[in-house]
Amino acid sequence: MILIGHRGLPCLAPENSLEGFKLAAEAGLNWVEFDVQITQDNQLVLMHDDSIDRTTNGSGFVYNLTLKQLQSYALKTSDNLNISVNIPTLSETLNLLHQLKLQANIELKLPECLAEAELSIIRSRLLDAFLGYLNSLDSLDSAWPKASPWPLISSFDHAILISIRKHHPLVPLGFLVEEPNMALLALAKEYAPASINANFSFLTQDFVKLASQRNIRVLAYTVNQVDQAKILRDWGVYGLFTDIGDKLNLNLA
Ligand code: G3P
Ligand code: MG
Repeated sequence: MILIGHRGLPCLAPENSLEGFKLAAEAGLNWVEFDVQITQDNQLVLMHDDSIDRTTNGSGFVYNLTLKQLQSYALKTSDNLNISVNIPTLSETLNLLHQLKLQANIELKLPECLAEAELSIIRSRLLDAFLGYLNSLDSLDSAWPKASPWPLISSFDHAILISIRKHHPLVPLGFLVEEPNMALLALAKEYAPASINANFSFLTQDFVKLASQRNIRVLAYTVNQVDQAKILRDWGVYGLFTDIGDKLNLNLA
C-alpha cells in the first residue's frame, strides 16, 4: 500500500508548499498529493480553498487574482518555521518533486463558490492550461524524463477528468468522491487507467473487493490513525492519503 502525503506534510509545514514536499521526502514518503487551481491570468498554482484567506496573509479568490498578486502574499507558517513561504506554481512543484524522486498526485480543483455558468468557463480555462502543461512535459525530456511515471491526475469534477482522457490515453486518472458506488466503478473502468479515490469512512471491504475484481484501484482519504490504516491495508486498499505521513510510514513499516 502506498502512503501519499496529503498536501505534503501539513503537520510540519504549510499545506501545498515546497517546504512540505521536502519534509515529506525526508520522512521517507514516495508520494505527495496537492491541489491545483487556475489563476485569473491562466497560471496553475497550488491552493486548496477557493480563497487564499485561510492559508496566507492575503485575501481573495484564486480565480480572481493574478499569479503576481498571489505571489505577493506568503503562506502562513508556524512560529518555528522562521521563513517566508510562497504559493508555488505547478511547474516549480513538479520540478522539485522530480529532484526529490517523489511521485505526484495532482488534484485539479474548481471553485465551489461558483454556479454552473461561471464554473464551466473556469473548467475550460483550467483544462486548457493543464493540457498545455501536460503537452509541454511530453516534449521537455529534461523536466519529465520519459522513464518517469506520469502523475496521477484526480478531481471531484469528473467532467474535467473525462476531457483529459480524450487527449491523453495513458495518464492515470483518480475519480474523487465522498461515497463510492457501482456507477463510479463503471466510470473508472470506462476511462481506465483510473482509480477511485474515496473518503475512507464510506469505504467497505465489499466495495474494495468489487473494485479489485474489476482491476480498479481504490485509494482512501484522509487517514490519520494507524489502526484505521491497517484495516484499509488489510482490505486491499491501494493507497492512503494522510496528514501524518511521517508517523504512518514508521508504524506501517
Ligand atoms: O485527494 C484526496 C483529498 O485531497 C481530497 O480532498 O479536500 O483534501 O482536497 P481535499
Ligand atoms: Mg486534495
